[in-house]
Amino acid sequence: MKGLLTLNRLSTDKIQDIIDEAVRFKNGKTVSYSGKTMATLFFENSTRTQYSFQMAMIKLGITPVSFNANASSLAKGESLYDTVKTFEALGVDGVIIRHSKDGYYRDLESVQIPVFNAGDGASDHPTQTLLDLMTIYEEFGRFDGLKVCIVGDIKHSRVAHGNAEIMKRLGMSVSVAGPDIWLDDTAPQTTVDKAIAECDVINLLRVQFERHKDSLAFDEAKYHALYGMTSDRAERMKEGAIIIHPAPINRGIEIADEVAECPKSRILKQMQNGVFVRMAVLSMVLEGQL
Ligand code: CP
Repeated sequence: MKGLLTLNRLSTDKIQDIIDEAVRFKNGKTVSYSGKTMATLFFENSTRTQYSFQMAMIKLGITPVSFNANASSLAKGESLYDTVKTFEALGVDGVIIRHSKDGYYRDLESVQIPVFNAGDGASDHPTQTLLDLMTIYEEFGRFDGLKVCIVGDIKHSRVAHGNAEIMKRLGMSVSVAGPDIWLDDTAPQTTVDKAIAECDVINLLRVQFERHKDSLAFDEAKYHALYGMTSDRAERMKEGAIIIHPAPINRGIEIADEVAECPKSRILKQMQNGVFVRMAVLSMVLEGQL
């Protein structure tokens, strides 16, 4: 299948090529795919990913086609496969899909147009990983030897799973920290306080209330004190270290309100880089380079 479904199938050289192309777009490179159209098929909520893909399309001259899952024929029982085949028949040149099912794209093998994975279940979010990597690369100029700790709800996080795999392949030392019930075997475990003293990158995760059946019992203040990026912890971070977070952020839970936009935070820069990474991915697929 054409497009970008997961980074696991790409070499580290190819991942670096995407980041380099994104930096070129950020520095003013222009190309035009006037006449092309692509549809954003989001079956889960999204602000950053959906609209930065649309911004990327507009900057590339591609016309975005919106899809409202709630007002679509999904309610009549239409499947993901039939929805995608419909957009293919309508003549769009690619589809960007977010879906709650892990590996949903394996049901779409016969689709001929490019498919771009905008997040599948708790498995992967490849363009989020790329924009995180771009932000880290802009900061440090390398990946090899950097230490990163992913903090929070690892088990339910496609960002944690996607990022850890690729960061390790790029030579970064990856650890995880958070409540025991939310940790899995993604990477060796550490504590938040040890991580902030040692790591170059603290990769916070959102507490995903919508994925937790027991969210009513969740103690926000306790989580913030035990695992959150408080002002005190931000002060104790290693010199030159940065905070990243895929967002949306829960202010006062995984990150203190006053830390969210502090000089160590790269959260808004990540969002900005998301547009350029998505321009690079769309362009490289249209050019047959991915
Ligand atoms: N980071 C991210 O995927 O944000 P959205 O859910 O708003 O797209």
